[in-house]
Amino acid sequence: MHTPDKPRVVLGVSGGIAAYKACELLRRLTESGHDVRVVPTASALNFVGEATWAALSGNPVATGVWEDVHEVPHVRIGQSADLVVVAPATADTLARAAHGLADDLLTNTLLTARCPVVFAPAMHTEMWEHPATAENVATLRRRGAVVVEPAVGRLTGADTGKGRLPEPGEILEVCLRVLARGAGGGRDLAGRHVVVSAGGTREPLDPVRFLGNRSSGRQGYALARTAVARGARVTLVAANTALPDPAGADVVPVGTAVQLREAVLKAAGDADAVVMAAAVADFRPARYVQGKIKKRDGQGPEPVALVRNPDVLAELSAARPRPGQVVVGFAAETDDVLANGRAKLARKGCDLLVVNEVGEDRTFGSAENEAVLLGADGRETPVPHGPKEALADTVWDEVVRMLNAGGPPSSR
Ligand code: CTP
Repeated sequence: MHTPDKPRVVLGVSGGIAAYKACELLRRLTESGHDVRVVPTASALNFVGEATWAALSGNPVATGVWEDVHEVPHVRIGQSADLVVVAPATADTLARAAHGLADDLLTNTLLTARCPVVFAPAMHTEMWEHPATAENVATLRRRGAVVVEPAVGRLTGADTGKGRLPEPGEILEVCLRVLARGAGGGRDLAGRHVVVSAGGTREPLDPVRFLGNRSSGRQGYALARTAVARGARVTLVAANTALPDPAGADVVPVGTAVQLREAVLKAAGDADAVVMAAAVADFRPARYVQGKIKKRDGQGPEPVALVRNPDVLAELSAARPRPGQVVVGFAAETDDVLANGRAKLARKGCDLLVVNEVGEDRTFGSAENEAVLLGADGRETPVPHGPKEALADTVWDEVVRMLNAGGPPSSR
């Protein structure tokens, strides 16, 4: 029975081996206070039976439109939902949804739903990469659905590649964020590709040592998660982070500043926006020592000579690989935060600079942040102390504002 004060979620499950992971997603959705109605496809029931879905959801389960006809379920379930999430979404289900077919209860539900829809695809790499699937995904995204990128890893058998269903906890995060943004809008980055860099680079001195920094990557990951929930295709260039991959983002792991530059420039080629949240080392050791550096009795330490790393943010801001692209930088400052921020904004040439104050026990590794957004057009947007996701959403608000106006002021 539906509990009136609980958000209604329809969990569509299609016929892939990852259907078993949807049980965990269902559990997490119900435990976090949602009323969940499971709508499996007929082939999903080959993997996980109806009894499991009914017991875990506490709601009846149907797959066809000819059951309980007097309740008109093929219309009612979709109409009354606050969110529809399809996990796993097979290539066949994505195709049927993209083409507006209505040959079972799930596709009928997708056609009648006016709430946000999230697809979490899972399939073999070849199927995901097939132009037919790619076009279906693009169609669904263009219409405002959130299609999270599959994860890379072990597939059904011994094979590995892109196509794994993201972890249930990460899919839940996407669902919660999409629900929080409400029925009407929210997917204002639909059809956009955004690139986010996160974490901190490490510059090796020898096989066991490196010069690094204390960036955890949390702010960048929050930017990636919130962009996924707003409908974007997200590339997350992650430098030395120890965080779970955000569901829906294409994660490109990197180590050094030079590797980060290469990955960011490659992804930026067709990106609408690039947000440089990574802490990139300004310098690297001039020489990499092949064997471990040893201390020598009676001798002091060898000085370490450093050379400059490329400034990725400045380079991107000057080059703009795609016309009208919005480029956002971050600045971590310990003193004279605003004055240093303005000077840095001008020096780097980006459209927006997120300035936050850092210190021994501030910002790094914590889940919260406080910042001021400085726009190249003189705008100043303070973001009060709060979750890194709130700051991330404010950054995307500004990015969307510039994209909808036809590009950053510098490009108009
Ligand atoms: N950044 C970059 N490439 C570098 C250094 C920094 O792309 N080699 C980017 C960061 O990702 C961030 C912004 O530049 O978005 C600000 O970095 P920060 O280190 O705070 O600024 P710096 O230019 O290093 O200035 P300073 O060291 O004087 O504070």
